[in-house]
Amino acid sequence: MASSSAPVPSVPSDPSGGPARVVVLVSGSGTNLQALLDAIAEQGSEAYGVEIVAVGADRDGITGLQRAESARIPTFVRRVKDYDSRADWDAALTDATAAYEPDLVVSAGFMKILGKEFLARFGGRTVNTHPALLPSFPGAHGVRDALAYGAKVTGCTVHFVDDGVDTGPIIAQRVVEVRDEDDESALHERIKDVERSLLVEVVGRLARHGYRIEGRKVRIS
Ligand code: GAR
Repeated sequence: MASSSAPVPSVPSDPSGGPARVVVLVSGSGTNLQALLDAIAEQGSEAYGVEIVAVGADRDGITGLQRAESARIPTFVRRVKDYDSRADWDAALTDATAAYEPDLVVSAGFMKILGKEFLARFGGRTVNTHPALLPSFPGAHGVRDALAYGAKVTGCTVHFVDDGVDTGPIIAQRVVEVRDEDDESALHERIKDVERSLLVEVVGRLARHGYRIEGRKVRIS
């Protein structure tokens, strides 16, 4: 069970009712999605506690969608440019996601800010993974910004999404050292290695054990 001052979700929605239903949102290569798919393939949905019921994207033609299709998982695409306003896009994304009745939503490299309607429906049960140690270096260029700042360590953060940019309650973090010879791509690849295993661990624990959000603290039961 989960509790927070915002919407109060229940995850898994029915602890005796099988794995948590998860919708994953992607914008790019989808290696974090693949790590979740691999965990399900290796451990089984029941043991891992997660079933990916759909994968959504904000653009066509990305490897993340191909990974979902290869795993025979339904996909949907909602592109901002197809809507009159950002709010209309957000409503369409919300409807498309809601159609799969998820217990949890995982934003895994989804490079759009989720809007008011989405958060009204899925706040408190939408998890994001970010390639920096929040609250340092939020936003779309977390790896580049840490490197430019001269940070000696950075890492990744899995957190619940709220209405700020990468400001929601932190679930788990892991540290990655910055090397003198790092460029953005080399550092991001080392972060993603760590990030994928952290995301798999966190999503499984949330799904299997349930959680509470108490202010900024996330307690996994
Ligand atoms: C991941 O490193 C994720 O943290 C980052 O995009 C990458 C997606 O990789 N997300 C952000 O920067 C969001 N601000 P993937 O498509 O291979 O999973």
